[in-house]
Amino acid sequence: MTEDSPSIPQADAEDKLWGGRFEGATDALVEAYGASIAFDRRLYREDIAGSIAHARMLAAQGIISADDCDAITTGLGAIEAEIAAGDFEFREDREDIHLNIEAALAERIGEPARRLHTARSRNDQVATDLRMFVRAACDEASELLAALRRALLDLAEREAETVISGYTHLQRAQPVLLPHHLQAYEEMLTRDAARFRAARATANVLPLGSGALAGVGYPIDREFVARELGFDAIAANSLDAVSDRDFVVEFHAAAALTMVHISRFAEEIVLWASAEFGLVHLDDAFSTGSSIMPQKRNPDVAELARGKSARTIGNLVQALTLLKGQPLAYNRDLQEDKEPIFDTVDTLLATLAVVAAMLPNLRFDAARGREAAAGDFALATDLADHLVQRGVPFREAHEAVGSLVAECERTGRTFEDLTLDDYRAAHPAFGDEVLSLDIEASLAARSATGGTAPERVAEQREAARARLREESA
Ligand code: ARG
Repeated sequence: MTEDSPSIPQADAEDKLWGGRFEGATDALVEAYGASIAFDRRLYREDIAGSIAHARMLAAQGIISADDCDAITTGLGAIEAEIAAGDFEFREDREDIHLNIEAALAERIGEPARRLHTARSRNDQVATDLRMFVRAACDEASELLAALRRALLDLAEREAETVISGYTHLQRAQPVLLPHHLQAYEEMLTRDAARFRAARATANVLPLGSGALAGVGYPIDREFVARELGFDAIAANSLDAVSDRDFVVEFHAAAALTMVHISRFAEEIVLWASAEFGLVHLDDAFSTGSSIMPQKRNPDVAELARGKSARTIGNLVQALTLLKGQPLAYNRDLQEDKEPIFDTVDTLLATLAVVAAMLPNLRFDAARGREAAAGDFALATDLADHLVQRGVPFREAHEAVGSLVAECERTGRTFEDLTLDDYRAAHPAFGDEVLSLDIEASLAARSATGGTAPERVAEQREAARARLREESA
């Protein structure tokens, strides 16, 4: 039906659906200031699903007739198709997605549309829509997280033998397997996945049936609606139900922390791709050039991922700040919950996808990794451990090796240049196995659970794959 349908008065400003007690028109500035249709149109599917479930319940309970219910559900189905096809005209004077759809339904089916809002308020309606949206976002995030975790494990498998320097304080510390380092990120993302499952559970409670704030006086069946819409439970307190946005905060928190983990990894890619580290080379498809410096190859994806984490952190803080001053129950402030969560969902999902795609394109320079792993006396702890095995107290061993390092630095030598006599001068307990101490021995020695010994790292990887399979089962 078109805008000039005879049953609908088409003044410049049509009567508001809430306009009964008003005589004057809304100021144009106020209308523009309050309209959320530009962004909350994104909730149209959830809004229509919620309305269909509500109408079916009203009919099942004898609150509206079966015929009215049929007209409503058919009309809503047509509107959904129209919106999906891009043929729907969203109107700012109709404020938000709820009123746009309800007014369009009235144009289309007339009288029955005016019964749809029985036993419902936009306050429980919008809370329901947003919970469905966040629930779906949690599922998408979990799937993309699983793909990223798989990509990390595949890369770890491909680089099973690659050794790099491990760092503390960004100073070369001890050799580690590159897979051990990559799998550390897989651990973080596994915890993130659990946080999205928890956020989903928090979101999956049905507010509809709470009315504006105090509950409704019709014989509704909230369990029916919960079943129709896939909610696990119904909200127990109507005041809480219409004003609670904890699920928004929990989603933001899970997303911001995931983005912080990705940002840390991105920072390492940026470092590793520099000439100073020289550890990784980015394929053409995942790097960009400079418009002025012809030689440049920049790790833009990593930089953007690191940069985009900032807005997700900002959005988390926005949500907490939005809530802190609000008295019960619904306040219009809550309309401000939407743009940031849409932004975070888009940022998170795009980042998870692009980083997963980037991983197979990383080419590591294994020789360079090995050089760094053995450089700067990185085997010093192993020398001290060697003395400890021969009965020397650890603190004494630490001191003896420290003096060896100082001696080497003074004379411009590395451990490889030292003779057994040099070692024995630092401590008499050194045995000749010190001369064959190398990176492989250092790695193999760290064989306690969680360590970088090759068989431990392979076990950790298998365990990670097993839990991924379990999660998707
Ligand atoms: N657009 C509103 C929001 O996003 C919908 C609820 C409006 N409720 C009201 N009583 N004005 O929060």
